[in-house]
Amino acid sequence: MPVTARDPHETDAEREAAQGGQVTGPLLTEIDHVAIAVHDLGAAVDYYRETFGAVVEHREVVESDGVEEVLLAVAESYVQLLTPTSDDSPVARYLERKGEGIHHIAYRVADCAVALQSVKDNGGRVIDDAPRPGSRGTTVAFIHPKTAFGTLIELVEE
Ligand code: CO
Repeated sequence: MPVTARDPHETDAEREAAQGGQVTGPLLTEIDHVAIAVHDLGAAVDYYRETFGAVVEHREVVESDGVEEVLLAVAESYVQLLTPTSDDSPVARYLERKGEGIHHIAYRVADCAVALQSVKDNGGRVIDDAPRPGSRGTTVAFIHPKTAFGTLIELVEE
C-alpha cells in the first residue's frame, strides 16, 4: 500500500481505519539496542565502564556482518558497541564515510516476519528480504534508512 499524506492530527484509531486496520497494535515492544560504530572497541568499552559503570553482558564476533559487538546493559535494553572485523565490512565503510557515531537503532518485536511484512506492505525498502539469524541467537531484519526517515532500523526477535 502506498504511503499517502494524511492529517497529522488524526488519531491512531483513525489512521488504522484508513489503512484497513492491518496493523492491530504496536509492533515495536521495546528498544532492543542502540548501536554505536567505533574504531577501538576496547577503548569504547573502557569509556562506558569507567565513566558510567556500565556492565558488559555479551561479546560476539558476527562473521556474516563483519563486526565484533559488545552489549552493555541499560535497564531492559542495550547499548551495542560495534567495530568492523575486516576492511570490507559495511561498518568499516560506514566509519570511513561518516566517522564514529550512532549506526542503527534496533526495536524488539514479537515476530520479526510480521513486522518486516508490515514494512513491505507500507512501501518501505528493506535490506533483508527475510528474517535471518542475528547475535545472541536472535532473529533480525534490517530496514533501509531511505524510506525510514534517515535511520537504519533493525527488527529484533528474541
Ligand atoms: Co544491531
